[in-house]
Amino acid sequence: MTSPGPDPAARARGFASDNQAGVHPEILAALTAANAGHQPAYGGDTSTARLREVVRGHFGERAEVFPVFNGTGANVVSLQAMSERWSAVVCPESAHINTDECGAAEKVAGLKLIPVPAPDGKLTPELIDRHARGFGNLQRAQPAVVSITQSTEVGTVYTAAEIAAVAACAHERGMLVHMDGARVANAAAALDLPLRAFTTDAGVDVLSFGGTKNGLLLGEAIVVLNPDAVRGLAYLRKAGMQLASKMRYVSAQLVALLEGDLWLRNARHSNAMARRLAGAAGRVPGVEIRRPVEANAVFAVLPADAAERLRKRFAFYTWDERTGEVRWVCSFDTTEDDVDAFAAAIAEELSG
Ligand SMILES: Cc1ncc(COP(=O)(O)O)c(C=O)c1O
Repeated sequence: MTSPGPDPAARARGFASDNQAGVHPEILAALTAANAGHQPAYGGDTSTARLREVVRGHFGERAEVFPVFNGTGANVVSLQAMSERWSAVVCPESAHINTDECGAAEKVAGLKLIPVPAPDGKLTPELIDRHARGFGNLQRAQPAVVSITQSTEVGTVYTAAEIAAVAACAHERGMLVHMDGARVANAAAALDLPLRAFTTDAGVDVLSFGGTKNGLLLGEAIVVLNPDAVRGLAYLRKAGMQLASKMRYVSAQLVALLEGDLWLRNARHSNAMARRLAGAAGRVPGVEIRRPVEANAVFAVLPADAAERLRKRFAFYTWDERTGEVRWVCSFDTTEDDVDAFAAAIAEELSG
């Protein structure tokens, strides 16, 4: 994503990203509740203890949770714990770790990324086979991890069977599977499956679980699904500056998200708003919806001058400067009125 940020004149609720939304009221209430009294620091608190139980309920008895501050940190610490100094990570070209983390996986974890062209944002066994090369060749960084994103950076969703096939392929070749789940809740809502059905049960080893884009103030979690896949994660989290001393505030938010169905309600809603937007915008002559709308993002192409005028009214990013493709993301707090007003503005700008 290379465009300038949204115009300051844009309306309060735009479509730039799901991390531009505020904090869900139930999360704010959980923060207030967690604020009583003193608690042990660095994860010794009652909220983090409860989070461990809640995460095991979703992902299985072997699951271990490590709350962190942000998604980049979750990815870097996970990948580091899954690999060696001489390792390489196979990922789609569009992977956030490849495009939007300022080279952190390379710089901080010292890993070589092997980005694979995948127009729909998804790796397949065939793509992994073509690009994970040079096993045992001391001239080559050794492919150790396959990293997939669910839902993907281009708004698509892997089925559980597709993930199982990727994991089987990776494991057969001695590699591990990392999932960047910044929007994993949106994928679960889209698939109508429990979280574990396409993570633990599909063979994913480590998940970066996303909270920020689904209503949290801040906070994500590394969820280790296969404890044999990581080494020294607790130390790497600290060395990687992702260990919160007041961890109770990150954990309390994640508990509030995952204990009931808030994670699913929010994700279902943002997905539904994206479908509504794609339907309405897709009916406007001159707008082409470019990709399947499977989660909470819509990718479209429209005339550049109309996109510029529209951007002055609603925030959104250009996804691809070369093609002019734009990205519209819906959030837990996007309303039907927001979508309808945006769709009407799109129609107005294209007719003008
Ligand atoms: C797919 C994906 N992974 C990870 C992240 C992590 O981002 P951050 O480090 O900003 O929390 C993002 C944020 O945009 C993302 O879209």
